[in-house]
Amino acid sequence: MTLSVKRQVALQSHHTLGCPATTEYWTEVRSLNELVEACRYAKTHQLNLLPLGGGSNVVFTQPFEGLIAKIAILGKQIGNNQGGKVIVEAGAGENWHQFVCWTLQQGLSGLENLSLIPGTVGAAPIQNIGAYGVELKEVMDKLWAFNRETEQIKQFSVDECQFDYRDSIFKQPSSPWIIAKVAFKLSAKFQPKLHYQPLKQLLDGKSVTPQQVSDTVCHIRASKLPDPSVLGNAGSFFKNPVISLEQFKAIYQAYPEMPHYQAGSHQIKLAAGWLIEQCDFKGLYQGDIGVHEKQALVIVNKGNGTGREVMALASQIAKKVSEQFGVQLEIEPRVY
Ligand code: FAD
Ligand code: EPU
Repeated sequence: MTLSVKRQVALQSHHTLGCPATTEYWTEVRSLNELVEACRYAKTHQLNLLPLGGGSNVVFTQPFEGLIAKIAILGKQIGNNQGGKVIVEAGAGENWHQFVCWTLQQGLSGLENLSLIPGTVGAAPIQNIGAYGVELKEVMDKLWAFNRETEQIKQFSVDECQFDYRDSIFKQPSSPWIIAKVAFKLSAKFQPKLHYQPLKQLLDGKSVTPQQVSDTVCHIRASKLPDPSVLGNAGSFFKNPVISLEQFKAIYQAYPEMPHYQAGSHQIKLAAGWLIEQCDFKGLYQGDIGVHEKQALVIVNKGNGTGREVMALASQIAKKVSEQFGVQLEIEPRVY
């Protein structure tokens, strides 16, 4: 056995919210063999197993009783041309933003709008990461995941992943799958996607390179979102709520300035950040935990705030938004 398992490991530096918590057992897996070993170790010792990437979409509210396996499977490779697209594979443990930068350096476009999202390649499909007008499902080709119960590897097509807005088959709490490798379909010929408003404002009508789009996305993101290495956070704490056209019309009458986006023929997506700001939470702190001054959708941790304090503030926010707008907010990160 090559696997090294540690006991009672602090989690504060292993997730971007930085709340104090511990795990009973901790290991890092750098290969498929080590992943198999970690799953067997968990089975033999009757432990819950939690795969962890960069920890940028998790909240720890209590000591984790089980084995956390940090997925550190590396490797990236340019493969075949398929129907005008270049297939590029990356190990689940690769850092997402570094991988995006590497694809751009290879002259391949497709991932530029998804620049600067924290975390790993392997976690990107979990909630079908999305930003600036692109979702992962549009650029993914396939992925390979390991079933911790049957110990089989399965190749998933995009359809099989059941991707939705901030969701997939892998985000379900009962999912037995651990993603080991992801393949993307990228382009040597650039077709910019600039329809997302802030990008459109800055770049529309200009002749741009993929690198310029990436730089602009990084610039916009840095102007609103706190850098987790400076201020603890997990990105958007709530999903943007999708409501019926009827419910939208009723709210819109009272708030005609409310930002909204078409989401299918009979549904409208609202901006949760705007709803939260209207409820006066923006910039509000309770101890170390608060709502970011520049983006009300982001709950931040100035120091030693706990996961329970984060969840308490999130409950107050969701309650107030529900009372004022009749809209239910759903938490985006996974809570443990
Ligand atoms: P983790 O937080 O480590 O894990 C998240 C979940 O996935 C956990 O349930 C974990 O068990 C599971 N998991 C992790 N790896 C695997 C694997 N290999 N196989 C199976 N399950 C696994 N998200 C967006 O969609 N768009 C954004 O624009 C965006 N911006 C962000 C900005 C900031 C500042 C921050 C802090 C977060 C942001 N996020 C955004 C959320 C987050 O970065 C993404 O969800 C990211 O994909 C999480 O990656 P991770 O490796 O950190 O996952
Ligand atoms: N807004 C406010 N007040 C705020 C925040 C936002 O009024 O405090 C308004 C903005 O003015 C704008 C609208 O809300 O009219 C949307 O804001 P923004 O463009 O900043 O995006 P968002 O909807 O808040 C979503 C994603 C982000 C993603 C960006 C860019 C969700 C839950 N969040 O944020 O993803 O980076 O769009 O595409 O869908 C994440 O998932 O962690 C994440 C950061």
